[in-house]
Amino acid sequence: MIAEKVPVTTQPGPVKPKRASQLKIIPAAKELQTVVERWRRGRKKIGLVPTMGALHDGHLSLIREARKTCDRVIVSIYVNPIQFGPQEDLADYPRDAKRDIRLLRAEKVDCLFTPTDEEMYPAGFDTRVVVNEKYTKPLCGESRPQLFVGVATVVAKLLALTRPQRAFFGQKDYQQCLVVTRLAADLNTGCEIVMLPVVRETDGLAKSSRNVYLNEDERRAAPAIYQALKLAEGMLQVGERNPQALLEAVRKRLRSESLIQIEYVSAKNADTLEDLNILAGRVLVAIAVRLGKARLIDNSIVAVPTGSGSK
Ligand code: PAF
Repeated sequence: MIAEKVPVTTQPGPVKPKRASQLKIIPAAKELQTVVERWRRGRKKIGLVPTMGALHDGHLSLIREARKTCDRVIVSIYVNPIQFGPQEDLADYPRDAKRDIRLLRAEKVDCLFTPTDEEMYPAGFDTRVVVNEKYTKPLCGESRPQLFVGVATVVAKLLALTRPQRAFFGQKDYQQCLVVTRLAADLNTGCEIVMLPVVRETDGLAKSSRNVYLNEDERRAAPAIYQALKLAEGMLQVGERNPQALLEAVRKRLRSESLIQIEYVSAKNADTLEDLNILAGRVLVAIAVRLGKARLIDNSIVAVPTGSGSK
């Protein structure tokens, strides 16, 4: 018997009024704090995505995760002068406010905080946040001694201003993630630091605002960084446990591109940044290179079973 088809009527459920999402652009710390207080009183879960602008897909992945897991999303765009050394690219750092704002509107971000230097560091400002040098001295801290004091100071300010329950950072800047995780816990901010995976171009190059510095030849050479990391991952997977052997193979891969100048190639305990005599546990393989005007970093974390390995 063929069942008679009953016309299905779809009952409209109770209509949930949609919140009109409008990007508030706020340059003043006081106004930001007023908005945050209102959201907090309304028990909204606040997500913060701190950036220096020139937004790319890496930033967008952080914003989307914030949008998915928080009620209100604040993005900050501030090229923080105190994290740049005197010879670094502060003046040239890419800036494109119009495009950034368009992207933030499309992602339905609630608030963009874009302070001036005077707003962040008014006359008389005289505080620095210093995280233990165990996290800040090795790797990028060696060639950029001011970097993590500048980052920790500005992130501490941003957390104080926005009081987020969650703040989102990309794994490309793994050392930065460790530093801000430490400070968020130690300063009782109540903020969970969420680290999201590196977002890559199709050829493996990690997305970075600084990739715009690369000319055609440099851009062609740049995926060697990713290939060198893949090589390290492969060696760890087949049992390489000798750091010197691993690092030499990574350096060799990088040196096959004559435009690449190695700043560091390092394998460390991913939680403590301590050097390893034997590659075991959570191993961080980290690379920093110069390629023309660009300084590029990338990393991979591999869980290596302790006591395993054939070499
Ligand atoms: O990763 C960045 O863009 C910056 O270091 C940060 C976290 C926004 C602080 O200036």
